[in-house]
Amino acid sequence: MSGKNWDRVPIDAQSVDAPLSTAAVFLVVTVAREPAALAKVASVLGDLDDLVKTVGFRDLAGRLSCIAGIGRDLWDRLHPDSRPGELKPFAPIKGSVHAAPSTPGDLLFHIRSERPDMCFEFERILLDNLGAAVTVVDEVSGFRYFDARDLLGFVDGTANPTALDLPASALVGDEDADFAGGSYVVVQKYLHDLDAWGKTPTHLQEEIIGRTKIDNIEIDDDDAPRKSHKSLNTITDGDGNEYDILRDNMPFGRPGQKEFGTYFIGYSRYLWVIEKMLQRMYIGDPPGAYDRLLDFSTPHTGTTFFAPTRPMLHAIVEAAQK
Ligand code: HEM
Repeated sequence: MSGKNWDRVPIDAQSVDAPLSTAAVFLVVTVAREPAALAKVASVLGDLDDLVKTVGFRDLAGRLSCIAGIGRDLWDRLHPDSRPGELKPFAPIKGSVHAAPSTPGDLLFHIRSERPDMCFEFERILLDNLGAAVTVVDEVSGFRYFDARDLLGFVDGTANPTALDLPASALVGDEDADFAGGSYVVVQKYLHDLDAWGKTPTHLQEEIIGRTKIDNIEIDDDDAPRKSHKSLNTITDGDGNEYDILRDNMPFGRPGQKEFGTYFIGYSRYLWVIEKMLQRMYIGDPPGAYDRLLDFSTPHTGTTFFAPTRPMLHAIVEAAQK
């Protein structure tokens, strides 16, 4: 057999390291309180990898993948015996000028593919299967924008860890052996004031982001009076070790509604790393010197999940079904 449809491409559920895609759906739902709803959710989660295959096999070149993340409350309902060490609801942050809200969410589905129609089809069947057990609280369809730019016009994702650095940054290790291979996931849906951003001179935009706009070169701002977004999000410990996270932000929008957004999604081995980034962005470093990206970008959601490995997800589901 020949032709791209028959290439061996891994189609996998729970693959945090799946390739960045040209399309994605971010779906956040809450689960009804009734035991029947919990049973339904457990059964759908148990069948998730089959659903990825069912839709993904129709075009392997579409590289469909789906990651399910579980929020703290649902985790405790499904698996009261133990939970990942750092898992807790998103902690809202109130800075002197900008605030990050915490919004509900029991389950996150991060659906990625080279084809928007595959994301759509997967989501359609998934929601059909979940039925009345869940309520959709947020649904965003993202798209890759030119050379991986956000709608502010900057290349977004450059500093992501690659190769061996990726699991070391994004996946829980021996420090929490029962949950090793899983990942903490934080999402925030941002809307941009593109009119105001457009009126901001490019050199100031570059100072705010910490990279040049056209060719994406990192700007050294060690001696600058205000830290850039890039520098506020560079996290080091007392020994100078740097802690990265894996981001797969996606632009979304409806120009007719003047809606222009960035869906932020970060996967991390340690939840505290993302929390520290958010503290530095909203409170500032030093306090008051917050991330000026927030003068143009407002978060409308903020939710934390844990994405277990596939075997872990199956074990949780089986335990819940007993
Ligand atoms: C409006 C939302 C956001 C936009 C448009 C945005 C955009 C960007 C851009 C353009 C860069 C520089 C290129 C790169 O390395 O990717 C960057 C870097 C980065 N951003 Fe964001 N970002 C957003 C929100 C966030 C949030 C909420 C976090 C963390 C909680 C975050 C964490 C980071 C990190 C870790 C880096 C890399 C820093 C480094 O160079 O080491 N970003 N972001």
